[in-house]
Amino acid sequence: MHDILPEDQPYFQRVAEVTANLVEFYGFKRIDPTVLENVEVFTRGIGEVTDIVEKEMYVLKTRGGDALAMRPEFTAGIARSYIEHGMCALPHPVKLYTTGPIFRAERPQAGRYRQFNQWDLEVFGEDSPAIDAQVIQVCWNILRELGLRDIIVEVNSIGDSQCRPYYKKLLMNYLRSRQNNMCADCRARLKKNPLRVLDCKEERCRKVVSNAPKIVDHLCEPCNNHFKEVLEFLDELELPYRLNHCLVRGLDYYTRTVFEIFSEGVPVKKDKEKKKEGSANEACPIETPGQIALVGGGRFDNLIKMLGGKDTPACGAASGIERLVNLMKTQGVRPTKPLLPQVFLAQIGILAKRKSLRLFEEFRKSRIRVVESLGRDSLKAQLGRAQKAEVRYALILGQQEALDGTVIIRDMGVGRQETVKLERAVEEMKKRLKK
Ligand code: HAM
Repeated sequence: MHDILPEDQPYFQRVAEVTANLVEFYGFKRIDPTVLENVEVFTRGIGEVTDIVEKEMYVLKTRGGDALAMRPEFTAGIARSYIEHGMCALPHPVKLYTTGPIFRAERPQAGRYRQFNQWDLEVFGEDSPAIDAQVIQVCWNILRELGLRDIIVEVNSIGDSQCRPYYKKLLMNYLRSRQNNMCADCRARLKKNPLRVLDCKEERCRKVVSNAPKIVDHLCEPCNNHFKEVLEFLDELELPYRLNHCLVRGLDYYTRTVFEIFSEGVPVKKDKEKKKEGSANEACPIETPGQIALVGGGRFDNLIKMLGGKDTPACGAASGIERLVNLMKTQGVRPTKPLLPQVFLAQIGILAKRKSLRLFEEFRKSRIRVVESLGRDSLKAQLGRAQKAEVRYALILGQQEALDGTVIIRDMGVGRQETVKLERAVEEMKKRLKK
């Protein structure tokens, strides 16, 4: 877990601004689901045999004996809220977004925190593949608008309850005879969640899955058509993507389209290796320790029903804001400069301090960006701070000025000073700052 220090705030603010502006343009409305949820929202929503539910949730017991989880993601909580507040009665699609802290008791490593922030967007009530493509496009646009370069989308389809069970069996048969070459975790996954073997990072498991049957070759017709259309939309949008048949995602609620966006530090397989596997466009990239996903998402057509609502198709995505900020820093992307203060208010003595408190409020009401200095520093020290703050003017309220009801305006550029009536100070500054 980590604190977000003042020097990092402009980065986080920039991500928040860009995200809100963009998603609102696409018709998303903000929602803030609760931080704590009944633990069942996640066990039922994300799935009992997923890493998040099995190992990573912070769960606490209330005095009344309820088990509450600190949200390990937004999707299930937003789906719970959609049902609880009868949003199924709204005109569809219902597009919602949020940002905020997420909690996962993960093994800490680079880019992986136990408390981190996500922006998240969800679309409810629309099963068109155009929505899948639009969700990917919005995520892509946010990263591009932030100024991030060299990013790539990876997509796959994991089918639905019609075709996935058959594929699971095929995969299990294939993996069972090779389990001696797999890691202990994958041997356990084989029984409970064989799809997760596909995205294991262990080198020996990657070797095993490189020749495993691919789910895209075993989709039922509706899933196949859906996926084809998603890819056609992405082509139309000219979004650079690659197929990754090992992309399955770590949450059980997904159906059909799944996707992630990576920074292009990702090693792409050499042509020779690709050819051995078939299509040149198709890859099962080997993750290096430095490779981390910036965005993850997909379609989840069964979640609302699983949580007790009506059958409602849905699609969404989320991104780790710390990862975006880290990449902005690595790529030298500066957040926009915060607006600099325009005026520095220096004062000497109790009476001047009292008057400058009032003057400060008047500046605030007139929307002039002013910094004050209410400590006991000498005038020299205060003017030194004004210099550092790069203000155009310093106002000096000394003991004499406080008694006379005046104030000195100092032009910091040329060092010229002029005394004006205290009640004229704000108007005078307005006039000068306009020049
Ligand atoms: P997720 O892939 O678990 O998906 O997380 C989304 C993003 O959150 C990741 O791509 C990554 O950028 C960031 N992230 C995940 N874990 C950490 C961590 N420990 N530290 C820092 N960043 C992290 C979801 O959360 C789904 N709810 C996304 C979704 C929305 N699917 C449909 N709608």
